[in-house]
Amino acid sequence: MLIRTDPLYPSYLPTRPEGYTSNIDVPFFEADERALRADPALPELDNGSTQLTNITPRVGTEIRGIQISSLSKDGLDQLALLAAQRGVLVFRNQDFADIGPNRQRDIVRHYGPLHLHPTMGYPEGTGPEFHVVYADEKVGSIRDLLGPHTSYDLWHVDQTFTPNTPGPTFFWVLETPANGGGDTAFTNLAAAYEALSPAFRETLLGLDLYHTSASVGEIGRIGTERALKEAVNTIHPLVIEHPVTRKPVLFVNPTIAQRVVGFKPEESAHLLNFLHSHIKSLDFSCRVRWEPGTVVVWDQRTVAHSAVPDFEEGARRHMVRIIPYGAKPRAARDSIAQVHQN
Ligand SMILES: [Fe+2]
Repeated sequence: MLIRTDPLYPSYLPTRPEGYTSNIDVPFFEADERALRADPALPELDNGSTQLTNITPRVGTEIRGIQISSLSKDGLDQLALLAAQRGVLVFRNQDFADIGPNRQRDIVRHYGPLHLHPTMGYPEGTGPEFHVVYADEKVGSIRDLLGPHTSYDLWHVDQTFTPNTPGPTFFWVLETPANGGGDTAFTNLAAAYEALSPAFRETLLGLDLYHTSASVGEIGRIGTERALKEAVNTIHPLVIEHPVTRKPVLFVNPTIAQRVVGFKPEESAHLLNFLHSHIKSLDFSCRVRWEPGTVVVWDQRTVAHSAVPDFEEGARRHMVRIIPYGAKPRAARDSIAQVHQN
């Protein structure tokens, strides 16, 4: 049975006094990928006083013994490098939730201009760069938003419908459901590409995907007509070269990119059905359990993610996310072609 209590962080409850804002279009800009400046020895992250543990060999590292809030600018660069390599970093016992919105915003802004969400609520006195994910007995949860389904997993990469796409993303917990649940799952899209045969990879390298903001979630929030009318769209290569690791990444996005450019609808659906089911493999995915004080940072060019809305009906779950934009994804085929020429 749920015991009703007041929220632990009332100042972070979602508000949206202005309603919907059409601010999702972000024109191309030359990004400064901070990870490229990092000392690869990661002296601030991986030293005698910190503990780094791989969640699985292929994805995720749990980090203890350091506060994100006390990293220098060099340390923040190292964090981005490790996030690019490992996909997702799980920092435990952080003071991040309590350092206030100005410092939280400043830390993430180190990595690039911040995404402004068009519909989600933000804490009073801040702005739409704070994306509050909140469920309780009154507002319900994502299950209510999406209606009846056999499964609510919703694998995706955030906000990929603009030329520049999100980089190292910060997501932290304020309150976990009283009886557990509400994990977040991550899957390594570089490892997903590596698992494919050379012949199949060759076919994928030549393809592009159409990305649109009229996603399942956005249609649920503002309706189909409006989501389509105000949609922002772009095309990205299906296989991108990661801007930091230079690895080829299977840049699929089941909620945002549902069409292969130049394919007929049935061909596109057939190929994407396979790829969308392929990326869910437990071979290269992991599940992150939230504890009080956990901050998760993931690189949106390395991993896709999904909520796991398995918590009890009416339970309170309170999270905050801030996303910085990184580089415009480049096609892996371009650098592979260069290697062949040399
Ligand atoms: Fe997301």
